[in-house]
Amino acid sequence: ATIWVIHGPNLNLLGQREPEVYGHSTLDDINGQLQLIALQEGAQISCYQSNAEHELIDKIHSARAANVDVIVINPGALTHTSVALRDALTGVAIPFIETHLSNVHAREPFRKHSYLSDVAIGVICGFGVKSYELALTAAIEHTKQH
Ligand code: DQA
Repeated sequence: ATIWVIHGPNLNLLGQREPEVYGHSTLDDINGQLQLIALQEGAQISCYQSNAEHELIDKIHSARAANVDVIVINPGALTHTSVALRDALTGVAIPFIETHLSNVHAREPFRKHSYLSDVAIGVICGFGVKSYELALTAAIEHTKQH
């Protein structure tokens, strides 16, 4: 199975960014942890981060040619704003899991709405780094069932 993990804007700041909300792990820590799980499960994963909406969209478009089975994506704030990201994901028709470190429903009201949730396989939020681990495990399971 080939799984891409895509991190959106500001997630490069993890570790220093609002640690009370997002924890102390850096993005490299998270990606390293996910690589370990992938190795154990025999899955291929590739991690990518960008602060630019168009780069995330281009990356998603390239997932088709790369035969990606499932995308795990934390779209950051683009979750709440980007019809374009939604259209990219539905456009390539690759199943994806929406993932957030924080519980977006327990925060500001504008974080409750997602442009992606209704077209995702599922949504995981609120478990910090564990959200990504759960999402990756679910993504691997999904490839076994489909
Ligand atoms: C986030 C939640 C978003 O609302 C926020 O804009 C982020 C991170 C999370 O992982 O909890 O950048 O996606």
